[in-house]
Amino acid sequence: MSTILVLLGPPGAGKGTQAVVLAKKFGWTHVSTGDMLREAVAKKTDLGMEAKKYMDRGDLVPDSIVTNIVVDRIMRDSSSKGFILDGYPRTETQALSLEAALSRSGMLINVVIYFETTPEISISRLSGRRVCKKCGANYHIKNIPPKKDGICDKCGGELFQREDDKESTVRNRLKVYEDQTEKLLSYYEKKGILRTVSGDLDVESAFRDLRNLFKKESVI
Ligand code: AP5
Repeated sequence: MSTILVLLGPPGAGKGTQAVVLAKKFGWTHVSTGDMLREAVAKKTDLGMEAKKYMDRGDLVPDSIVTNIVVDRIMRDSSSKGFILDGYPRTETQALSLEAALSRSGMLINVVIYFETTPEISISRLSGRRVCKKCGANYHIKNIPPKKDGICDKCGGELFQREDDKESTVRNRLKVYEDQTEKLLSYYEKKGILRTVSGDLDVESAFRDLRNLFKKESVI
């Protein structure tokens, strides 16, 4: 049966960065709702155009839109060793829809990992984030700088700042997280599957803690 891991935490806590490393190391499928929505925006699909209105403000895209794309993705790749859900669920409605869809296929969430960090760290990480236009790789101007300013190490693509990483939008994203997503911590705590890691560590130390956690939880 596929392993299902959920990464939960405020914007900028390092979920996406670790998800990329974990997917590569353990052969799991990385399911990032943010990436899937940005792809739909770039392709100017109807769904993308609808989602863009919310994303530009830093608000959540309606539950039904997001749930459909996640469930489709999991079902399409149902033979995968495992899935890392990065940025989903973010509301109780999404959590309930996910559980219902997984249980129809005989699957369960193994562990929900909470990346705990402070608003100050989130803001400093997001305001310094740069993303490759071509391959989507993430950098940080101070913490994880590219070798050559403004150029992706991996593919030579141009780096840019995400529109929703501007400080005023980041502040709204943090508020939306507090208002709508934080309550999922107690939801999963009650189910006994919530585990907390520090989101403040450097990338290698955060990965080491996750690997230890996965060993303890018998998911690797
Ligand atoms: P999304 O793209 O998911 O944004 P987010 O959750 O706000 O997550 P981020 O990517 O900003 O943070 P992260 O924790 O992944 O950090 P990262 O590793 O990238 O969503 C965007 C929008 O899409 C939402 O606002 C919403 O509109 C919509 N959306 C998405 N999912 C939705 C859903 N389920 N429901 C409704 N709407 C949804 O790192 C950030 C920066 O820090 C990078 O520069 C990185 O290089 C750096 N960094 C990472 N780790 C470290 C470290 N350990 N030390 C130092 N620097 C680090």
